[in-house]
Amino acid sequence: MLMKRVFFLAFSLFLSAICFAQLSVTERKLEEFKDLKLGLFLHWGLYSQAGGDWQGRRYKGGEHFMLYERIPLKEFATLAGEFNPYLFDADRWVEDAMHAGMKYLVITTKHHEGFAMFDSKCSDYNIVKMTPYGKDPLKALADACHRHGMGLGLYYSLGRDWEDPDCPTDWPEKGGRSNTWDYPDEDAKDISKYLERKVFPQVTELLTNYGKVDIMWFDTAELVDKDQSRALRDLVHTLQPECLINDRIGNGMGDYATVEQKLTPGIDPKPWEACMTMGWGWGYNKYDRKYKTPVEIIRYFTDIVSKGGNLLLNIGPKGDGSWPDLCRDNLAALHDWLEVNGEAIYRTRQWRTFGEGLDSSFVREAEAMKAKEGAYEVLPEGIIPDFRYTSKGRYVYVLVRNVPLRDYTLKAFNEGDRIRSVRLLSGKRRVKWNLSSEGLDIHLDSPADHEIYVLIIKLKKSNQ
Ligand code: GLC
Repeated sequence: MLMKRVFFLAFSLFLSAICFAQLSVTERKLEEFKDLKLGLFLHWGLYSQAGGDWQGRRYKGGEHFMLYERIPLKEFATLAGEFNPYLFDADRWVEDAMHAGMKYLVITTKHHEGFAMFDSKCSDYNIVKMTPYGKDPLKALADACHRHGMGLGLYYSLGRDWEDPDCPTDWPEKGGRSNTWDYPDEDAKDISKYLERKVFPQVTELLTNYGKVDIMWFDTAELVDKDQSRALRDLVHTLQPECLINDRIGNGMGDYATVEQKLTPGIDPKPWEACMTMGWGWGYNKYDRKYKTPVEIIRYFTDIVSKGGNLLLNIGPKGDGSWPDLCRDNLAALHDWLEVNGEAIYRTRQWRTFGEGLDSSFVREAEAMKAKEGAYEVLPEGIIPDFRYTSKGRYVYVLVRNVPLRDYTLKAFNEGDRIRSVRLLSGKRRVKWNLSSEGLDIHLDSPADHEIYVLIIKLKKSNQ
């Protein structure tokens, strides 16, 4: 009897030690994740090969066109016969992303179409088996990430799969995101068969054959239930205890939250990531030609960082393995801007408030300057000058966004803030300042050059 009790006590201590160890590993990884700020999302699959047209006609639905156009699996699979990314160069992908200041990448290993973009032994519907390319690009990419010290994340479409006969969905209605043209009987679909046949084995392959994986980025949990999400989470942590999992594993089992294609209203101190496209779609589409401009990208990025999040910025590589030319200006702008201002971004956290606007007298002054100096000419309509904040230890960074003024007052500061120095990050120039009950008055020799979308002022606070 006593032995039994001792055994149970020891066993439960052992279990809680494992849970505690997992918790602290995850917490540490999440802090590291928050340090990174900028990642590259890569959507690459058979839809990239189609690139906008199907059988000579422009299709609907972007990378979801198999669903929107109800294309039979057999016909859709003919894209694999054409898929030959002869320009794919894993080192170049990773180097180009790192040059733009990206610290991790997340690549689609299987999107909703169900096609594995890696060597999968448990489904022949994969790039090695079905394409003339015949190689595993994920192996090359994972190796390149490891060589260059780039974080590696793997996207995996969880509750949607248009190749598997047993993957039901219920959004926006029953069968709404299922392959109902090849497999019409939605009631006959048994999700556990799909999970056992494809998801668990493929996730095992992904976390066994590619070295260290930093993030499992699941998408669209759909009808996956709580036990299934938990089992998947356990599988990930058994195979790679340090791997983070995003919230789309479903049922509250993720480590961090994701938001998609939008900005959030305020600070969220919990770890989160906003994913965004440069154009309108995720996968490559030749008709997707209106990309966000560098000023917009840097505005979104600073908005997200000031609220405590990471930006996962998407590129859709083409079927030939090259990146669309349109993304290049944005990558170059991120590089140039981060080279000067990265200190105010990487490894920072949100400050006590994410930002503030200009008061109306300053807006009038700015309007007058605009008339005089044409300072707003480059700004797209809808861009409102304002200030954002980040912080790191004793430092607060003011991200002065599109403010073409020499003088302004930052109301977020008060006399209790023991400020010791104020300088510009670019050129490290000192700035004239005065702290009063109204806030922190700033005087610059000249207003920010309007080519510098976001100017950064670094404040050092005293220790006590
Ligand atoms: C949505 C889209 C999907 C894309 C994902 C990225 O879920 O349906 O195509 O992969 O967003 O977050």
